[in-house]
Amino acid sequence: MGKLYVFDHPLIQHKLSIMRKKETGSKEFRELLNEIGMLMAYEVTRDLPLRDVEIETPICKCTTKMLAGRKLGVVPILRAGLGMVDGILSLVPAAKVGHIGLYRDPETKQPVEYYCKLPTDASERLLIVVDPMLATGGSSIAAIQFLKDRGCKNIRLMCLIGAPEGITAVQAAHPDVDIYIAAVDECLNEHAYIIPGLGDAGDRLFGTK
Ligand code: PRP
Ligand code: URA
Repeated sequence: MGKLYVFDHPLIQHKLSIMRKKETGSKEFRELLNEIGMLMAYEVTRDLPLRDVEIETPICKCTTKMLAGRKLGVVPILRAGLGMVDGILSLVPAAKVGHIGLYRDPETKQPVEYYCKLPTDASERLLIVVDPMLATGGSSIAAIQFLKDRGCKNIRLMCLIGAPEGITAVQAAHPDVDIYIAAVDECLNEHAYIIPGLGDAGDRLFGTK
């Protein structure tokens, strides 16, 4: 079973509470999502391997540490996942970005794929799939399966808010994938929206309805 990491850091919780408020507008929502994306990326990358390198400071030669080649890829699930990408890239500017377009059919609640473009070496990278909302889990499960079907093996899932049902579903479908999340909410409503959640993340991010 994949691990579930819930980020209870006060800064993340504070920013998330502002995002949840219905009166928070798109500009502030976007800024906060990126800030939380950056803070979460700091923890998601905590175990990246390091290697020793010889360098020279203005004072003397020394042995110090740098990242050891395990390349990163960020894979937002369109649309709402896009809102976390810039924050992550501000910490890891060398990461490549792949895109998977999925929307949830309002009737069936099933994910429908409409776009995919991945880095050519995606299967050699540690991939962080990002989507603020993990509701039924259908979209995340489909996106991760999509990556696995293309040979990707090292995959992590980073979300903002999850429903218990969705988290359990991802863990069952992809037991090798660790989940990083800022909050686990109560449940889903009859439209498969997260309670209390923050509403429709894509619409709030891009000002659509
Ligand atoms: C939202 C959200 C997730 C999905 C979560 O996207 O960003 O991708 O729903 O629901 P699930 O866990 O039940 O699959 P949506 O389908 O609304 O598309 P959008 O981002 O383009 O608005
Ligand atoms: N997608 C969203 O944007 N919000 C939810 O609560 C569930 C799915």
